[in-house]
Amino acid sequence: MKKTIARNQSTSGSQPQKPDDNFSKLLEKIDKARLPKHIAIIMDGNGRWAAKRGLPRLAGHRAGAKAIRSTIEIANQIKVKYLTLYAFSAENWRRPRKEVFGLMGLFEETLNKEVDELNQKNVRIKTIGDLTKLRKSTRNKFLEAEEKTKANTGLNLIVAINYGGRQEIIQAVRKCCSLTNSQEIDEKKFASLLYTADIPDPELIIRTSGEFRISNFLLWQAAYAEFWITNTLWPDFTKEEFLQAIHDFQHRQRRFGRVN
Ligand code: FPP
Repeated sequence: MKKTIARNQSTSGSQPQKPDDNFSKLLEKIDKARLPKHIAIIMDGNGRWAAKRGLPRLAGHRAGAKAIRSTIEIANQIKVKYLTLYAFSAENWRRPRKEVFGLMGLFEETLNKEVDELNQKNVRIKTIGDLTKLRKSTRNKFLEAEEKTKANTGLNLIVAINYGGRQEIIQAVRKCCSLTNSQEIDEKKFASLLYTADIPDPELIIRTSGEFRISNFLLWQAAYAEFWITNTLWPDFTKEEFLQAIHDFQHRQRRFGRVN
């Protein structure tokens, strides 16, 4: 895995650049014809963001939900086709009850606030993960969001919720075992049994908060993904960094096992 710690600001020129200048310049530098089709994000650092401010962890998650808004906006604006956000892992149930309860409430509140506008912007919402373990009100909010936006043709916003890569592979293996002939199973067939059937593999995976881990995220699908890691804590993640990640991706050499 190639390690890239992002540099957040342009260092050229003697005048400090205004954020908008930086944004426009980055936008110009990106080749719109070669965007990664699918970008996935491990949104990490909400707790540390809150701790640095002496706030409860849930305040960090609230700030994290705001950062999601600007990331979706920019992804939609530049016409990225698939954006996956790791919102709640299968392991996150191990957190204190109060935090888990608060997160479920935050998911519902965020969906209440944002779904109509996302729908107007032609965004299609889809979930991956085992929704059956969520409380009914949270599960229903996600299902309603999927139903309401299912005909949209713009950005596909995929929310990974109670998601674990191993759990996803196991459920696919179980389906495989019920197939009559194991010789029928190949990579294509297996991928069609994952939560992400019909979704292309992520080409770029962004992780915030400086951790170099995959954390059970899209294990099968990440086989050839490029990783981009920033020290920024998720609530502080900006649209400029999102563009910087795409720009860096476009300068990577992807060999898929071949030589140059
Ligand atoms: C990881 O930071 C973040 C999460 C487990 C939750 C992310 C959820 C949101 C931002 C709200 C999303 C809302 C919707 C509707 C998708 P952490 O708590 O592990 O941070 P730490 O490592 O600093 O403790």
